[in-house]
Amino acid sequence: MASRRLLYVKCSPRGARSHSVRVADAFVAAWKNRNRDGIVESLDLFEADIPPFDGPAVSAKFAVMRGESPSAADRAIWGKVIETIRVFTSADAYVFAVPMWNFGIPYRLKQYLDVIIQPGLTFSFSPSEGYKGLVTGKPALAVYARGGSYGPGSGMEAYDFQRKYLEAALGFIGFTDIRSIEVEPTLAEGPEAAKAAEAAAMAKAAQMAATF
Ligand SMILES: Cc1cc2nc3c(=O)[nH]c(=O)nc-3n(C[C@H](O)[C@H](O)[C@H](O)COP(=O)(O)O)c2cc1C
Repeated sequence: MASRRLLYVKCSPRGARSHSVRVADAFVAAWKNRNRDGIVESLDLFEADIPPFDGPAVSAKFAVMRGESPSAADRAIWGKVIETIRVFTSADAYVFAVPMWNFGIPYRLKQYLDVIIQPGLTFSFSPSEGYKGLVTGKPALAVYARGGSYGPGSGMEAYDFQRKYLEAALGFIGFTDIRSIEVEPTLAEGPEAAKAAEAAAMAKAAQMAATF
């Protein structure tokens, strides 16, 4: 049987200081421990060469949506889009380390999603069936770090567009098994509260790796 491939998408530019990355690192280490021949591929979105989703990319996208092939001018950018999607869809399982920025996700993750969510590649549409996700049967874990608290009873639930958006985007392209770990508050209640939140998240990460 082929080795399982885990794609680890880091969406914080803060390296070892990032809470979401530290907790996701712990999850990935625990997963690797249990999947000795598993392959972990890391994608640091603030370092990676993710193509811009600009005029030519949008024009290529619309050409594809109309069932036309992209023009010669659009083809170079579309090739990069397809390659980025190929790397994404070739994984068997996914881990995202995601900071909350202005109640949502960092712009590099939004750019990445704009690149990989494409008709005919990660979702399909037909008048009879409507929209259908094409990335199916694969688990995803998102580790969400937030400076404040957004969980049940916080009074801030409605401001959590970070989890809501990522889950909607992944659900749209076919994911049904989306797990999560929250690390919060990393700022609002001081360093002791942040430390305790991270320790609890680390324990959850080690546990969750057993069934991923
Ligand atoms: C640009 C920016 C915007 C942020 N916006 C929010 C926010 O809307 N709500 C919040 O609770 N924390 C916010 N924070 C704090 C981060 O969510 C917090 O530092 C978190 O730990 C970041 O994740 P990381 O440690 O994995 O980088 C923001 C931080 C930055 C840098």
